Amino acid sequence: MRKKFHIETFGCQMNKSDSELMVLSLSRSGFDKTDIEAEADIHIFNTCSVRQHAEDRVISRIENMRAGIKPESIIVITGCMAQNRKDKLTNGIADIIIGPYQGPKIGEILDNYFKDKTGNNFLSQSYNDFSPRIDFGLTDCKDDIAWHKWITITHGCENFCSYCIVPYVRGPLISFPSDTIIKYAGELAAKGITEVTLLGQNVNQYGMDSDIPFYRLLEKIAGIREFRKVGFLTSHPKDFDDNIIYVIRDNENISKAVHLPFQSGSNTILKQMNRQYTRERYLEIMEKIDKTLEEYSVSTDIIVGFPGETEEDFNATLDVVRKVRFDEAFTYAYSPREGTASYHFEEKLTREEKIERLNTLIDVHRSIVKEKLTARIGRHENMTVENVSKRSEEEVIGRTSLNHPVVISGGEEDIGKRLEIKIGGLRGATLLAERIN
Ligand code: SAH
Ligand code: SF4
Ligand code: F3S
Repeated sequence: MRKKFHIETFGCQMNKSDSELMVLSLSRSGFDKTDIEAEADIHIFNTCSVRQHAEDRVISRIENMRAGIKPESIIVITGCMAQNRKDKLTNGIADIIIGPYQGPKIGEILDNYFKDKTGNNFLSQSYNDFSPRIDFGLTDCKDDIAWHKWITITHGCENFCSYCIVPYVRGPLISFPSDTIIKYAGELAAKGITEVTLLGQNVNQYGMDSDIPFYRLLEKIAGIREFRKVGFLTSHPKDFDDNIIYVIRDNENISKAVHLPFQSGSNTILKQMNRQYTRERYLEIMEKIDKTLEEYSVSTDIIVGFPGETEEDFNATLDVVRKVRFDEAFTYAYSPREGTASYHFEEKLTREEKIERLNTLIDVHRSIVKEKLTARIGRHENMTVENVSKRSEEEVIGRTSLNHPVVISGGEEDIGKRLEIKIGGLRGATLLAERIN
């Protein structure tokens, strides 16, 4: 009997991409994917350690799941938490743990496990064992958008922002060779993929350890004309040079939705965070984008309540939010991570005070988003339909070319279509539109 696996992914896009590689590896080794948890013989959790909450969620998911699963089924923890908490996880929580770079080998690892169960129930690989490997492949992950693929261009990170666990769990920066990436992108295009996102913890550093700079790679990928949309994640203000902005401007198929985390608007805090740029430099980049790109949207990541953040520092963050007017912001309360530099910085704020700042920030940001979206009413735009709405079978959801969420009437037959639409209104932070072609 072929064994079935169920996979649940936490954390960032890198993990989503890794999960796709795991599905591929498992199917090559003769395991079948199921979306029904109770049917699975293998439960895989691809985990994140970036904040304490991310780790707590996985543990409580596993605890709550136990009653409804086959008693003989096994639990496999992969990804960053497997690396970060290997000792804790082998203590009765997981049967197997597999570090972040062993995903492409998971089929082989599980195959061996089922052949020889004795004493072989602990398989952790540290990132130190990692040798650069590129194992791209096409998979049929159901929760993925069929016409889109992630393309990992770098692994690891060595920026050591003082709050961040990623360099410890993902190891140093490794850029994959550009000719391999370009060849793979060409293969994707030939198979009908029309949208790709280049992935790395700081993609702007691509090629700094060898090869061509990031903006050249981006240009080459955009040169594959079958791609109607090329995105990239994540950028870092310290390495975001003007050449990148010019390449975005000069290539119609590069996404004009720019994601650039700023984390804090206070220079004192930025220094403590080891971010290596100032608020002035960040605002300068935003100004350059504004002057260079005709139409664009901007999103960001922000941390509130970093150790030592005063009311004044926090106001400086709010000030950047008001000045830049982001279309989307991923906002987080600071979470101390053991092993990072800031773990020992003295925290003066209580959890409640951090949450209060977070809520203030979210309120300011939301009202700006509302104003920005309202300003789009009456415009003609393009959208790509991603899914049938969860609210109604007669509605479909998608994103405009600037990445704003949008709803129109339609059905399953519309999924994957690129439509011309007219924006008619707003429902919460989602645009309401009607098709005009
Ligand atoms: N490589 C990306 C993403 C890193 S993790 C980058 O450099 O931007 C994604 C986001 O999580 C970060 O941008 C940061 O805003 C947030 N984050 C990381 N560590 C955190 C911590 N210890 N507490 C709270 N938020 C954190
Ligand atoms: Fe973490 Fe900084 Fe690297 Fe991003 S750039 S992954 S925040 S250390
Ligand atoms: Fe989390 Fe690892 Fe990504 S810690 S944010 S899943 S790189």
